[in-house]
Amino acid sequence: MTVLVPTMGALHKGHQALIKRARTLDKDVIVSIFVNPLQFENKADLEKYPRSPERDIEIATIAGATEVWFPEYEDLYPEGFKTLSSGALGNLYEGSSRPGHFDGVVTVIDRLCAIAKPDKAVFGEKDFQQLTIVKAMKSKIEIVAVPTVREFDGLAMSSRNLRLSETGRSVALVIHRALAAAKLAPTVEIAQEILNTTLSMEPGFDKDYATIIDEKDFSLADEGTENRRAIIAGWVEGVRLIDNMPMVGR
Ligand code: PAF
Repeated sequence: MTVLVPTMGALHKGHQALIKRARTLDKDVIVSIFVNPLQFENKADLEKYPRSPERDIEIATIAGATEVWFPEYEDLYPEGFKTLSSGALGNLYEGSSRPGHFDGVVTVIDRLCAIAKPDKAVFGEKDFQQLTIVKAMKSKIEIVAVPTVREFDGLAMSSRNLRLSETGRSVALVIHRALAAAKLAPTVEIAQEILNTTLSMEPGFDKDYATIIDEKDFSLADEGTENRRAIIAGWVEGVRLIDNMPMVGR
């Protein structure tokens, strides 16, 4: 039995949590490291994506990977390959700001799984829309979710954090501040207001969206929504950051 942990490298504690979780599921854990060009709508973002293969091998192995796999572009995408569609959810939020992003994600996951043939695959809740879309892929592979790993001050672990200056990093904390404050709000309306107000107080944060959604289909949450989640995306120093948190329902 094999578990796949798909990654794009620049591994950090968040990835380590995924690998450790994978290790509890089965004894063979493959960590794939592939910066997937298909999911980058922005070429500069692709070029700037941090790469640290040697360190990645070390981190993955210490966390419990039994194989670290660096597929080549040609292995995954032979001539004439077809890009898959991520469906309606793939066009909302992250998909709306990053056209084609989720089609690239589902395509690479499909190819990685076709080659590695895992029984299970592990994904982080940090990319909650990605997790939801991957769960909806028609596949026999069991998808296991792992909660977001945060720094001591709440910043969600992300390879992109490496691109922030010290000032940028402290600006980015507004995301967690907004989520944590909204979580305690008694109604969806108040939670939404808290998100808007908190984020607007940080001039260095350039908001893309901040919304309370129904986890099921990412429609707007209302008082009747059982599983609500706040999702936030924006830019700090030109670096796109995303985060999310379940909201307390009634
Ligand atoms: O979350 C990521 O790092 C990527 O989207 C993934 C799942 C490895 C696919 O390239």
